[in-house]
Amino acid sequence: MTGKQTKSDALVWFGCTGDLGLKMTFPALFRMERRGMLEIPIVGVASSQWTHDDLVQRGRESVEQFGGGLHDDRDAAAFDRLAARLAYVDGDYGDDATFVQVGKLLDASKAIRPAHYLAIPPGLFQTVITALGRAGLADEGRVIVEKPFGRDLDSAQELSRVVHTVFPEERVFRIDHYLGKESVLGIMYARFANSMLEPFWNRDMIDSVQITMAEDFGIAGRGKFYEGVGALRDVVQNHVLQIVTLLAMEPPVDIEAGSVRAEADKVLRAIDPLASGDLVRGQFDGYRSEAGVAADSDVETFAALRFEIDNWRWGGVPWFVRAGKNLPVRATEARIRLRKPPAKIFPGDHVPTGGSDYVRIRVTPDGQLALGLRTKEPGPEFVGEMGELLLHSEAGPELTAYERLFGDALAGDQTLFTSVAGVESAWEIVDGVTRDHAPAERYPIGTWGPVESVDRLIGRHGPWYDPEPSATY
Ligand code: BG6
Repeated sequence: MTGKQTKSDALVWFGCTGDLGLKMTFPALFRMERRGMLEIPIVGVASSQWTHDDLVQRGRESVEQFGGGLHDDRDAAAFDRLAARLAYVDGDYGDDATFVQVGKLLDASKAIRPAHYLAIPPGLFQTVITALGRAGLADEGRVIVEKPFGRDLDSAQELSRVVHTVFPEERVFRIDHYLGKESVLGIMYARFANSMLEPFWNRDMIDSVQITMAEDFGIAGRGKFYEGVGALRDVVQNHVLQIVTLLAMEPPVDIEAGSVRAEADKVLRAIDPLASGDLVRGQFDGYRSEAGVAADSDVETFAALRFEIDNWRWGGVPWFVRAGKNLPVRATEARIRLRKPPAKIFPGDHVPTGGSDYVRIRVTPDGQLALGLRTKEPGPEFVGEMGELLLHSEAGPELTAYERLFGDALAGDQTLFTSVAGVESAWEIVDGVTRDHAPAERYPIGTWGPVESVDRLIGRHGPWYDPEPSATY
């Protein structure tokens, strides 16, 4: 969140013809261009045998389908400016001539501090990174790496080793787009810009924490990719654990990258590696018939887990997480449940077993912050019901996650990027259970996963609270 670092003076975009470019990168670059925040040349690189015109055409399709469209002269002018910034290099990543070509384009625009954005399969990271080093394109450059950062602890460490042979850690930017979401950052803001939450934000007052990351769609044609990851690697090791760290961390000294990342890492280090009994895996009916999926696949499309954060603030408080594809709604939500009042004063009143009052924080698809409290129903009896005070609700972010993260990486601000220590600590938590686990249980599409096992996992801290569908999305 600081502006002290030097700015990158070019963006080199490896894998510019891929799906992520269509859905995320082009819309983000276009929005940055429209706000006048993109002042540098962009060199797209791929081996798709495209031309510059093909890339511009892809950009137009992307903005029309995923970036809100081109509505007026201002949009059209912004798109023309973006197209004029784009150059395209077609070439094999294994061929040094590709990098010579990139170097020539950077020289032509007098760029000496490029940011290299790797939107390529992880298997190609090493090839591209070492070639950048050989071509002298890394000397002053930064590297922006897309998740997944490895597929387990060993491969993540190996990946970091390779990256560090060419780029020092202060020039490495690992993207987890959840950290760029307005609503996710709102968690840190709500916690540390107020003093009201702090007195009860600990083991004395909190019964348990639930986090649900539900998606009402399947693997959307990404069978080949998904077979290599599954829910644990795709979203739990990264997005969900980012939410956990922001909910659980101690106040950082300030908002500098080093301070925030140090506190986030302490949370992850206080979580023991999961044991197989802490995990329920599920697979939606029909997953095995998806393209790119093995007929006998045991890959999980749903994971429920429980863990504790073994530190002074959270010791003894169970955390429960559910994440899955083809569930009834699309919503990512945390519910922090407070303990029951210590004495039952109103005999006929029903207070749920696990806890009563709660704080509810929703981060996808809309942002919400709400307090749940019991209030008395009008009438002669002392009976009540849960009511909710919705403190904040926002339909869509001003700044999309990718827009924010690209802007920060180009400015050299690492606050919202995962540190090497953070990535490795997160892998340590899930590493064992990615290999040692019970088979995935089948669940029908549109349900909350293998419900019996998931209910057993939460036990007396239940029930699970199912997020409501969003009114706006
Ligand atoms: C991606 C995963 O990182 O995050 C996807 O690969 C998942 O499987 C997506 O659907 C969820 O992101 P969001 O922002 O839509 O909640």
